[in-house]
Formats: sequence, structure tokens, C-alpha cells
Amino acid sequence: MKRRNFLKLLAALGLGGLHSAWAAEPYHRLENPRSPTLMEKKHVPAVEAPSRVKAGEWFEVRVRVGYLVEHPSTPEHWITRIELHCNGRGVARVEFPEGGNLAPVAVFRVRLNRSAVLEAVENCNLHGTWISPPVRVEVF
Ligand SMILES: [Fe+2]
Repeated sequence: MKRRNFLKLLAALGLGGLHSAWAAEPYHRLENPRSPTLMEKKHVPAVEAPSRVKAGEWFEVRVRVGYLVEHPSTPEHWITRIELHCNGRGVARVEFPEGGNLAPVAVFRVRLNRSAVLEAVENCNLHGTWISPPVRVEVF
């Protein structure tokens, strides 16, 4: 079995996190922004960040799931983690060990010294791992 197929199998089984501290499985992503599916509306994370920030100053990045329809949070179906990636590298992670009492939202305080691309990754216990479209933050 090829590594890529093995990683897909792990992700399909909900075991994607076992092979790496940071998810490296193939992500689901928004395929067609003009006509998103209901699955995409509920699972693609939204990254809310300023488009321009001052170098070295803290700013807030808010990630919520999904970007158009809030994902359910029940004991049977919930978002198990939200990650923030900066220039393709995982820099923060929030874990939700169970569903039902927490909304799938995470807020991070961030500072940058140079312009960067932020992305969010989330995992749904039933529907796999999803990545947001990239969001560029310009530093001036
Ligand atoms: Fe889901």
C-alpha cells in the first residue's frame, strides 16, 4: 500500500493523528467556493484575522467551524480539534475531547514579524480533517 493511501485509510478510520503530532493526512478542502456543499459549509474552518498588522504587535485570530453553517456539537458528533498553521507549519492546537458543551471555536493571540499565510485545520469525529482556504496577513 502506498503511503498516501495508507494515510487516507488512517484518516478514514479516524486515526489520522497517530502517525504524526500534526495532522498530515490529506485534508478535505473547499472545492468550489461558488457552490459549496453542505458538508463544506459545516466543516471548512473560517479564519478571522486582520489583513494588515503592525510588526511585533499582538492581534487576534479567531477560528470557527464551519465557515457558513455552525458545525453540530453533540456527544455523538463534534469537532475534536482545531489547529492554527502559519506558513504551512502547525503552531497551535485546541483539543475538544468530547462534544456537547463547547462550540467549535478557538481564539489565538498572534504576533508576526513578517507577512505570513494562516490556515486552520479541524477534525470532525465523523467527517474527517478539513483545512481552510489560506488567509494572508500583511505586516507593515
Ligand atoms: Fe461533522
